[in-house]
Amino acid sequence: MTVLVLGSTGSTGRRVADQLRSRDVPVRAASRFGDVRFDWSEPDTWAAALEGVSAIYVMAPDGVPVEPAFITQAVSAGVERLVLLSTMHPEEIGDDRLIAAEATVRDSGAEWTVVRAHWFNQNFDEGFFLPAIQAGRLVVPLADQRQAFVDATDLAAVAVEALLGDGHHTQTYDVTGPEALTFAEACALISTATGRDIQYDGTPEAYLATPGATQETLDFFLNQLSLGNAVPTNTVERLTGRPAIPFQTYANHAAPAWT
Ligand SMILES: NC(=O)c1ccc[n+]([C@@H]2O[C@H](COP(=O)([O-])OP(=O)(O)OC[C@H]3O[C@@H](n4cnc5c(N)ncnc54)[C@H](OP(=O)(O)O)[C@@H]3O)[C@@H](O)[C@H]2O)c1
Repeated sequence: MTVLVLGSTGSTGRRVADQLRSRDVPVRAASRFGDVRFDWSEPDTWAAALEGVSAIYVMAPDGVPVEPAFITQAVSAGVERLVLLSTMHPEEIGDDRLIAAEATVRDSGAEWTVVRAHWFNQNFDEGFFLPAIQAGRLVVPLADQRQAFVDATDLAAVAVEALLGDGHHTQTYDVTGPEALTFAEACALISTATGRDIQYDGTPEAYLATPGATQETLDFFLNQLSLGNAVPTNTVERLTGRPAIPFQTYANHAAPAWT
């Protein structure tokens, strides 16, 4: 089988592709600038990416919809299995894009699994929190709410099990890390890993003073606050047979990005 990995240069796709290769599974690593060119907004890039593919790791970056026409084309081309990266609590946080993506894969006619992720650890060293951590002050208006930060390596491992293993069809997995931490605690663990002081401010006032923040983006966080503290799941251990990666282990490994 050849697995098409979308977002193959991104936080999860890169790890999915690496883990598949380490199990000797043929991989087509695709994105706009990946080994194979694939662009969600350019349908003429889709057919070549799909040639000879039997399963797909489906991810679309923030703000980009999973195009139903692509999924239809994939199934027509012989794809039998779809594993979609989604978010935890999409209904409660009003993530219409990922609610639609989930419906698209569930209605596709192929075998499907939905991987619903909590906040990625990698937001801190590969994603949108990186400049703030480098500057020593992170502002996220989530006060002392606890988050079950999950490592992209673990998300990828769950996705790979769903792509290769049995019994995952029609499953929707909530995937978290092993502990629920406040952002202040996460920053303290990064401080321990780096020896640098990393401050956290979780107030809406501080957030609205940051560039690009609007009442609409604040409302996204306020919706999330209404969910209360996250509760870790055992999905990683159940599917992979090994415990999920603790945040401190992640931070020690990622420390060079922050120093
Ligand atoms: N961050 C979180 O805490 C979190 C939590 C839950 C769910 N999620 C979801 O996870 C997804 C992000 O996953 P990620 O972190 O693995 O991605 P990522 O690191 O942001 O990488 C995005 C990937 O998409 C590719 N890409 C960008 N524009 C594209 C386009 N028009 N067509 C095709 N590929 C394109 C990029 O490669 P090129 O630039 O080469 O195209 C890259 O490989 C989003 O849907 C987000 O909602 C995130």
